[in-house]
Amino acid sequence: MSDKALLQYQDKTFEFPVIQGSENELAIDIKTLRAQSGMITIDPGFKNTGSCESAITFLDGEKGILRYRGYSIEDLAEKATFLEVVYLLIFRELPKADALAAFQKDIVAESHVDEEMKKILDGFPKSAHPMGVLASLTSALISFNPNSVNASSDKEMYAAIVRIVAKFPVLVAWTMRKKKGLPLDYGDDSLGYVENIHKMMFKKPSQEYTKNKVIIDALNKLLILHADHEQNCSTSTVRIVGSSHAGLFASLSAGISALWGPLHGGANQAVLEMLEAIEADGGDTKKYMAKAKDKNDPFRLMGFGHRVYKNFDPRAKIIKKAADEVLNDLGIDDPILAIAKGLEKEALEDPYFVERKLYPNVDFYSGIIYRALGIPTEMFTVMFALGRLPGWIAQWKEMRENNEPIGRPRQVYIGENFRDFVPVENR
Ligand code: SDX
Repeated sequence: MSDKALLQYQDKTFEFPVIQGSENELAIDIKTLRAQSGMITIDPGFKNTGSCESAITFLDGEKGILRYRGYSIEDLAEKATFLEVVYLLIFRELPKADALAAFQKDIVAESHVDEEMKKILDGFPKSAHPMGVLASLTSALISFNPNSVNASSDKEMYAAIVRIVAKFPVLVAWTMRKKKGLPLDYGDDSLGYVENIHKMMFKKPSQEYTKNKVIIDALNKLLILHADHEQNCSTSTVRIVGSSHAGLFASLSAGISALWGPLHGGANQAVLEMLEAIEADGGDTKKYMAKAKDKNDPFRLMGFGHRVYKNFDPRAKIIKKAADEVLNDLGIDDPILAIAKGLEKEALEDPYFVERKLYPNVDFYSGIIYRALGIPTEMFTVMFALGRLPGWIAQWKEMRENNEPIGRPRQVYIGENFRDFVPVENR
């Protein structure tokens, strides 16, 4: 559709093409704005600004819709394996059985990490936050895989992708085991991708690993739910770092650091800490609701609100249901779940939250399941990163294949105008 948008400023009118996405989203293409008018736009937080055209994930924030490559998150969470979703996001189609088997075989062939990496891990104090450790280890992987630095051909890109899909779970498992003082072992390549992750994370040195279908299914679902989310903060970081041709592993390391923030992926840890504080406070949710609404109090209701969803986050609905199922199946009665549900009910009935369309997001209930699976609170955001890995890879690959220009926003300067230098003796 060759639609046009007009911008009028003083006695001039400027014309811009309007583009329409496959889900009928409209965007004004302002590529020629500065050339035509000498002006730029400004939009802190990019709330109204698209950075790219992407074919990977579709969100409708008003209707609470999330789809990966056209498949609904509800279908994928219920029917797919995480490795199928990894393949779907990165290579655009759900794999046929032989393609999936070949992909898994290539991953298994790369599922080792250079022993020297353990020395880097040894350099961290036990008190180090796992997200800082994971970002460093991911960056350190570059040194052991130099030809993955700037994969540009399809062959190099596939090799780099398989390497990081294979090795990232080892880094995640070793990061947790280091903190727990457990030996840094491998899992069992004959197991499925997610079961092997669980074995690497939880196998005790002196015990046989026993599979628990409830736990593996819960982990599979959680990883799928976190796998991609269009141009969120950490994905935009991966794209902009990758746009300088910094390479996949370096771009991922930057994405991990962006995800760490409590306003983004770090919220799942902050939610649990908030719920535990409420529990310690005798379950006084009203006090925390008041804090969340008090403009003079920096406290926010963690796990609530979203830049895009102004309706329920569809992932939160699925995770809330899964939390009930997992705790029930594992015979766990966690008072924190009751506090979370009480807080959600209160917020959904409170005018402050209703007016601002603040609903539970993906981080509100996820920590309750991670806790039930025996994952330490500080590892929650690492689990988010493990899920988001395929999304980051897919977005980085799309950006490179589309030969997108280096990301370099403009600004409006509001500082001092020209002034002469004054020698120190005269100041
Ligand atoms: C993720 O982008 C993604 O897709 C991210 C993610 C993904 O999959 O990648 O979905 C994962 O990061 C989920 C979000 C996790 N973060 C949190 O749960 C932290 C708490 N939430 C907020 O900090 C906030 O809601 C954000 C950061 C998520 C969104 O912030 P916005 O879009 O910039 O909204 P805003 O700060 O402009 O808030 C609008 C209003 C403000 O009040 P007023 O100035 O209008 O009076 O709503 C208020 C805010 O103060 N508000 C909250 C609130 N969130 C927004 N008030 C209390 N508690 C909150 N949680």
